[in-house]
Amino acid sequence: MNNFLNISDLSKEELRSIIDGAKQRKSERGEKPHSQSDSDQPLQGKTMIMIFEKTSTRTRISFDLAVKQLGGSSIILNQDEIHYGKGDESIKDTAKVLSQYADILMIRTDSHKIVDEFKKYLDIPIINGLTNKGHPCQVMADILTFEELKGDIKGKTISWIGDGNNVANSFIEAAEKFKFKLKIACPKKYQPDKNIVKSAKKNKCDLLITDNPYKAAEDSDCIMTDKWISMGDKDDKKKKKKILKKYQVNKKLMKCAKSDSIFMHCLPASREEEVTSEIMDGKQSVVWLQAFNRIHAQKSIIEWCIK
Ligand code: CP
Ligand code: NVA
Repeated sequence: MNNFLNISDLSKEELRSIIDGAKQRKSERGEKPHSQSDSDQPLQGKTMIMIFEKTSTRTRISFDLAVKQLGGSSIILNQDEIHYGKGDESIKDTAKVLSQYADILMIRTDSHKIVDEFKKYLDIPIINGLTNKGHPCQVMADILTFEELKGDIKGKTISWIGDGNNVANSFIEAAEKFKFKLKIACPKKYQPDKNIVKSAKKNKCDLLITDNPYKAAEDSDCIMTDKWISMGDKDDKKKKKKILKKYQVNKKLMKCAKSDSIFMHCLPASREEEVTSEIMDGKQSVVWLQAFNRIHAQKSIIEWCIK
Protein backbone atom coordinates (compact mmCIF):
# COMPACT_ATOMS: atom_id res chain seq x y z
CA MET A 1 0.00 0.00 0.00
CA ASN A 2 1.13 3.57 -0.73
CA ASN A 3 0.19 7.00 0.60
CA PHE A 4 -0.14 10.05 -1.62
CA LEU A 5 0.46 13.09 0.55
CA ASN A 6 3.22 15.12 -1.12
CA ILE A 7 4.68 14.98 -4.63
CA SER A 8 8.11 14.98 -2.96
CA ASP A 9 7.39 11.64 -1.23
CA LEU A 10 7.34 9.75 -4.55
CA SER A 11 10.22 8.85 -6.83
CA LYS A 12 10.44 10.19 -10.40
CA GLU A 13 9.60 6.72 -11.67
CA GLU A 14 6.53 6.36 -9.48
CA LEU A 15 5.21 9.77 -10.53
CA ARG A 16 5.84 9.01 -14.19
CA SER A 17 4.05 5.66 -13.89
CA ILE A 18 1.00 7.42 -12.39
CA ILE A 19 0.85 9.92 -15.27
CA ASP A 20 1.39 7.25 -17.92
CA GLY A 21 -1.19 4.99 -16.26
CA ALA A 22 -3.71 7.85 -16.31
CA LYS A 23 -3.09 8.46 -20.02
CA GLN A 24 -3.53 4.79 -20.83
CA ARG A 25 -6.69 4.29 -18.78
CA LYS A 26 -8.21 7.51 -20.17
CA SER A 27 -7.57 6.44 -23.76
CA GLU A 28 -8.80 2.87 -23.19
CA ARG A 29 -12.01 4.17 -21.60
CA GLY A 30 -12.98 6.20 -24.65
CA GLU A 31 -16.46 7.72 -24.54
CA LYS A 32 -18.05 5.50 -21.84
CA PRO A 33 -20.78 7.23 -19.77
CA HIS A 34 -19.47 8.99 -16.63
CA SER A 35 -20.54 6.42 -14.04
CA GLN A 36 -19.93 3.27 -16.08
CA SER A 37 -16.97 1.34 -14.73
CA ASP A 38 -13.82 0.42 -16.62
CA SER A 39 -13.82 -3.21 -17.73
CA ASP A 40 -11.12 -4.40 -15.29
CA GLN A 41 -12.71 -2.78 -12.18
CA PRO A 42 -9.55 -2.74 -10.02
CA LEU A 43 -11.45 -1.24 -7.06
CA GLN A 44 -14.25 -3.82 -7.08
CA GLY A 45 -15.46 -4.52 -3.52
CA LYS A 46 -13.41 -1.62 -2.17
CA THR A 47 -14.58 1.59 -0.50
CA MET A 48 -13.03 5.03 -0.32
CA ILE A 49 -13.96 7.41 2.51
CA MET A 50 -13.57 11.09 1.73
CA ILE A 51 -13.48 13.75 4.44
CA PHE A 52 -13.87 17.41 3.55
CA GLU A 53 -12.98 20.01 6.17
CA LYS A 54 -13.26 22.63 3.42
CA THR A 55 -15.63 23.10 0.52
CA SER A 56 -15.00 21.40 -2.81
CA THR A 57 -16.67 20.97 -6.18
CA ARG A 58 -14.04 19.31 -8.37
CA THR A 59 -12.16 17.16 -5.86
CA ARG A 60 -15.36 15.78 -4.34
CA ILE A 61 -17.05 14.89 -7.61
CA SER A 62 -14.01 13.81 -9.59
CA PHE A 63 -12.90 11.43 -6.81
CA ASP A 64 -16.42 10.02 -6.57
CA LEU A 65 -16.46 9.39 -10.32
CA ALA A 66 -12.91 8.01 -10.24
CA VAL A 67 -13.90 5.46 -7.60
CA LYS A 68 -17.06 4.47 -9.52
CA GLN A 69 -15.15 4.07 -12.77
CA LEU A 70 -12.65 1.82 -11.01
CA GLY A 71 -15.57 -0.32 -9.80
CA GLY A 72 -15.53 0.75 -6.13
CA SER A 73 -17.83 2.75 -3.89
CA SER A 74 -17.35 5.94 -1.91
CA ILE A 75 -18.60 7.60 1.27
CA ILE A 76 -18.31 11.38 1.42
CA LEU A 77 -18.30 13.22 4.77
CA ASN A 78 -18.12 16.88 5.66
CA GLN A 79 -16.30 17.77 8.84
CA ASP A 80 -19.47 18.70 10.71
CA GLU A 81 -20.72 15.14 10.20
CA ILE A 82 -17.89 13.41 12.06
CA HIS A 83 -16.41 13.63 15.56
CA TYR A 84 -12.67 14.29 15.34
CA GLY A 85 -12.74 17.94 14.20
CA LYS A 86 -14.87 18.98 17.16
CA GLY A 87 -12.54 17.41 19.68
CA ASP A 88 -15.04 14.63 20.49
CA GLU A 89 -12.65 11.92 19.32
CA SER A 90 -8.93 11.82 18.61
CA ILE A 91 -7.49 11.41 15.11
CA LYS A 92 -5.82 8.23 16.37
CA ASP A 93 -9.14 6.64 17.35
CA THR A 94 -10.85 7.91 14.19
CA ALA A 95 -8.09 6.39 12.07
CA LYS A 96 -8.41 3.01 13.80
CA VAL A 97 -12.15 2.93 13.09
CA LEU A 98 -11.92 4.15 9.47
CA SER A 99 -9.28 1.51 8.76
CA GLN A 100 -11.92 -1.15 9.48
CA TYR A 101 -14.64 0.42 7.34
CA ALA A 102 -12.79 1.32 4.18
CA ASP A 103 -9.84 0.52 1.93
CA ILE A 104 -8.60 4.04 1.27
CA LEU A 105 -9.04 7.52 2.79
CA MET A 106 -8.98 10.86 0.99
CA ILE A 107 -8.92 13.98 3.12
CA ARG A 108 -9.07 17.74 2.52
CA THR A 109 -7.96 19.67 5.56
CA ASP A 110 -6.76 23.07 6.66
CA SER A 111 -3.67 21.76 8.37
CA HIS A 112 -1.12 19.43 6.81
CA LYS A 113 -0.37 18.16 10.32
CA ILE A 114 -3.78 16.43 10.30
CA VAL A 115 -2.95 14.31 7.24
CA ASP A 116 0.39 13.39 8.79
CA GLU A 117 -1.37 12.43 12.03
CA PHE A 118 -3.92 10.27 10.17
CA LYS A 119 -1.11 8.58 8.25
CA LYS A 120 0.54 7.60 11.53
CA TYR A 121 -2.47 5.62 12.70
CA LEU A 122 -4.21 4.37 9.55
CA ASP A 123 -3.85 0.82 8.27
CA ILE A 124 -5.14 1.94 4.86
CA PRO A 125 -3.65 4.36 2.31
CA ILE A 126 -4.33 8.10 2.59
CA ILE A 127 -4.55 10.68 -0.20
CA ASN A 128 -4.09 14.42 0.25
CA GLY A 129 -7.10 16.16 -1.30
CA LEU A 130 -5.63 19.61 -0.43
CA THR A 131 -4.03 21.02 2.67
CA ASN A 132 -2.60 24.45 3.51
CA LYS A 133 0.74 23.07 2.30
CA GLY A 134 -0.06 21.32 -0.96
CA HIS A 135 -2.53 20.10 -3.56
CA PRO A 136 -0.69 17.19 -5.17
CA CYS A 137 -3.74 15.63 -6.91
CA GLN A 138 -4.36 18.90 -8.73
CA VAL A 139 -0.77 19.10 -9.90
CA MET A 140 -0.84 15.52 -11.24
CA ALA A 141 -3.99 16.37 -13.24
CA ASP A 142 -2.29 19.51 -14.53
CA ILE A 143 0.76 17.57 -15.68
CA LEU A 144 -1.52 15.07 -17.41
CA THR A 145 -3.32 17.96 -19.12
CA PHE A 146 -0.09 19.69 -20.13
CA GLU A 147 1.35 16.50 -21.65
CA GLU A 148 -1.88 15.70 -23.46
CA LEU A 149 -1.66 19.05 -25.23
CA LYS A 150 2.06 19.86 -25.40
CA GLY A 151 3.98 16.58 -25.01
CA ASP A 152 6.59 15.66 -22.41
CA ILE A 153 6.77 18.36 -19.69
CA LYS A 154 10.50 17.70 -19.17
CA GLY A 155 12.48 20.79 -20.19
CA LYS A 156 9.37 22.93 -20.73
CA THR A 157 8.78 26.25 -18.96
CA ILE A 158 5.83 26.69 -16.60
CA SER A 159 5.08 30.08 -15.04
CA TRP A 160 3.15 30.55 -11.82
CA ILE A 161 1.84 34.10 -11.42
CA GLY A 162 0.29 35.40 -8.18
CA ASP A 163 0.01 33.97 -4.69
CA GLY A 164 2.75 31.53 -3.61
CA ASN A 165 0.17 29.15 -2.16
CA ASN A 166 -0.44 25.42 -1.61
CA VAL A 167 -0.78 24.66 -5.34
CA ALA A 168 2.44 26.57 -6.06
CA ASN A 169 4.20 24.51 -3.37
CA SER A 170 3.18 21.25 -5.04
CA PHE A 171 4.32 22.63 -8.41
CA ILE A 172 7.78 23.30 -6.97
CA GLU A 173 7.98 19.67 -5.83
CA ALA A 174 6.77 18.54 -9.27
CA ALA A 175 9.30 20.73 -11.13
CA GLU A 176 12.11 18.94 -9.36
CA LYS A 177 10.73 15.46 -10.10
CA PHE A 178 9.49 15.98 -13.68
CA LYS A 179 12.43 18.26 -14.57
CA PHE A 180 10.59 21.25 -15.95
CA LYS A 181 11.60 24.88 -15.48
CA LEU A 182 9.35 26.68 -13.04
CA LYS A 183 9.23 30.47 -12.89
CA ILE A 184 7.19 31.87 -10.02
CA ALA A 185 6.22 35.53 -9.82
CA CYS A 186 4.81 36.59 -6.48
CA PRO A 187 5.17 39.49 -4.06
CA LYS A 188 7.89 39.01 -1.42
CA LYS A 189 5.18 38.81 1.26
CA TYR A 190 3.35 35.91 -0.42
CA GLN A 191 6.12 33.53 -1.43
CA PRO A 192 5.78 29.73 -1.40
CA ASP A 193 6.77 27.58 1.60
CA LYS A 194 10.40 28.36 2.53
CA ASN A 195 11.31 24.75 3.30
CA ILE A 196 9.92 23.47 0.01
CA VAL A 197 11.87 26.15 -1.89
CA LYS A 198 15.03 25.36 0.07
CA SER A 199 14.77 21.66 -0.59
CA ALA A 200 14.04 22.19 -4.31
CA LYS A 201 17.08 24.44 -4.67
CA LYS A 202 19.26 21.92 -2.83
CA ASN A 203 18.10 19.27 -5.29
CA LYS A 204 18.99 21.49 -8.27
CA CYS A 205 15.41 22.22 -9.32
CA ASP A 206 15.29 24.74 -12.19
CA LEU A 207 13.34 27.29 -10.15
CA LEU A 208 13.17 31.06 -10.44
CA ILE A 209 11.30 33.14 -7.89
CA THR A 210 10.85 36.78 -8.83
CA ASP A 211 8.49 39.63 -7.99
CA ASN A 212 8.27 40.54 -11.69
CA PRO A 213 5.32 38.81 -13.43
CA TYR A 214 6.57 39.73 -16.92
CA LYS A 215 9.95 38.18 -16.28
CA ALA A 216 8.28 34.98 -15.08
CA ALA A 217 5.95 34.84 -18.08
CA GLU A 218 8.69 35.39 -20.67
CA ASP A 219 8.98 32.54 -23.23
CA SER A 220 6.74 30.31 -21.16
CA ASP A 221 4.88 27.23 -22.43
CA CYS A 222 2.19 27.59 -19.78
CA ILE A 223 0.93 30.44 -17.61
CA MET A 224 -0.82 29.46 -14.40
CA THR A 225 -2.49 31.24 -11.57
CA ASP A 226 -4.89 30.61 -8.68
CA LYS A 227 -7.20 32.60 -6.41
CA TRP A 228 -5.44 35.32 -4.44
CA ILE A 229 -7.34 34.31 -1.32
CA SER A 230 -7.27 30.58 -0.64
CA MET A 231 -9.70 28.74 1.61
CA GLY A 232 -8.76 29.31 5.24
CA ASP A 233 -6.37 32.14 4.28
CA LYS A 234 -5.83 34.27 7.40
CA ASP A 235 -4.18 37.20 5.58
CA ASP A 236 -5.82 40.62 5.44
CA LYS A 237 -7.85 40.05 2.26
CA LYS A 238 -8.15 43.67 1.15
CA LYS A 239 -4.44 44.33 1.60
CA LYS A 240 -3.46 41.07 -0.11
CA LYS A 241 -5.63 41.75 -3.16
CA LYS A 242 -4.15 45.22 -3.48
CA ILE A 243 -0.59 43.90 -3.39
CA LEU A 244 -1.41 41.15 -5.89
CA LYS A 245 -3.14 43.45 -8.39
CA LYS A 246 -0.10 43.71 -10.67
CA TYR A 247 0.01 39.90 -10.89
CA GLN A 248 -3.27 39.60 -12.80
CA VAL A 249 -3.08 37.26 -15.81
CA ASN A 250 -4.39 39.34 -18.70
CA LYS A 251 -3.74 39.89 -22.39
CA LYS A 252 -0.62 41.98 -21.78
CA LEU A 253 0.93 39.31 -19.58
CA MET A 254 -0.04 36.40 -21.87
CA LYS A 255 1.76 38.20 -24.73
CA CYS A 256 5.09 37.70 -22.92
CA ALA A 257 4.68 33.92 -23.11
CA LYS A 258 5.24 31.81 -26.23
CA SER A 259 2.57 32.40 -28.87
CA ASP A 260 1.36 28.80 -28.49
CA SER A 261 1.40 28.84 -24.68
CA ILE A 262 -1.58 27.61 -22.68
CA PHE A 263 -3.34 29.10 -19.67
CA MET A 264 -4.15 26.97 -16.62
CA HIS A 265 -6.12 27.59 -13.44
CA CYS A 266 -7.05 24.87 -10.95
CA LEU A 267 -10.41 26.61 -10.27
CA PRO A 268 -12.46 27.95 -8.63
CA ALA A 269 -11.49 31.33 -10.12
CA SER A 270 -12.27 34.89 -9.10
CA ARG A 271 -12.69 36.34 -12.55
CA GLU A 272 -11.25 39.84 -13.08
CA GLU A 273 -9.01 39.40 -10.03
CA GLU A 274 -6.21 36.88 -10.70
CA VAL A 275 -7.36 36.38 -14.32
CA THR A 276 -9.49 38.28 -16.78
CA SER A 277 -12.50 36.56 -18.36
CA GLU A 278 -10.93 37.34 -21.73
CA ILE A 279 -8.06 34.94 -20.91
CA MET A 280 -10.10 32.41 -18.96
CA ASP A 281 -12.59 32.02 -21.83
CA GLY A 282 -10.00 32.60 -24.54
CA LYS A 283 -8.33 30.24 -27.01
CA GLN A 284 -5.27 29.58 -24.85
CA SER A 285 -7.27 28.52 -21.81
CA VAL A 286 -7.39 24.79 -20.94
CA VAL A 287 -9.10 25.13 -17.56
CA TRP A 288 -12.06 22.85 -18.36
CA LEU A 289 -9.80 20.03 -19.54
CA GLN A 290 -7.80 20.44 -16.30
CA ALA A 291 -10.98 19.94 -14.28
CA PHE A 292 -12.00 16.91 -16.38
CA ASN A 293 -8.57 15.33 -16.03
CA ARG A 294 -8.88 15.34 -12.25
CA ILE A 295 -10.91 12.14 -12.70
CA HIS A 296 -8.25 10.43 -14.79
CA ALA A 297 -5.23 11.49 -12.76
CA GLN A 298 -6.95 10.43 -9.52
CA LYS A 299 -7.89 7.01 -10.89
CA SER A 300 -4.22 6.39 -11.45
CA ILE A 301 -3.29 7.77 -8.01
CA ILE A 302 -5.86 5.46 -6.37
CA GLU A 303 -4.53 2.44 -8.28
CA TRP A 304 -1.00 3.26 -7.15
CA CYS A 305 -2.15 3.65 -3.54
CA ILE A 306 -3.85 0.25 -3.36
CA LYS A 307 -0.92 -1.59 -4.99
N1 CP B 1 -9.32 22.57 -7.91
C1 CP B 1 -10.00 22.07 -6.87
O1 CP B 1 -9.47 21.34 -6.04
O2 CP B 1 -11.31 22.42 -6.83
P1 CP B 1 -12.33 22.17 -5.64
O3 CP B 1 -11.96 23.07 -4.52
O4 CP B 1 -13.66 22.50 -6.25
O5 CP B 1 -12.23 20.73 -5.23
N1 NVA C 1 -5.34 27.57 -3.38
C1 NVA C 1 -6.73 27.24 -3.38
C2 NVA C 1 -6.95 26.02 -4.24
C3 NVA C 1 -8.39 25.62 -4.37
C4 NVA C 1 -8.56 24.38 -5.17
C5 NVA C 1 -7.21 26.99 -1.96
O1 NVA C 1 -6.48 26.36 -1.17
O2 NVA C 1 -8.30 27.42 -1.62
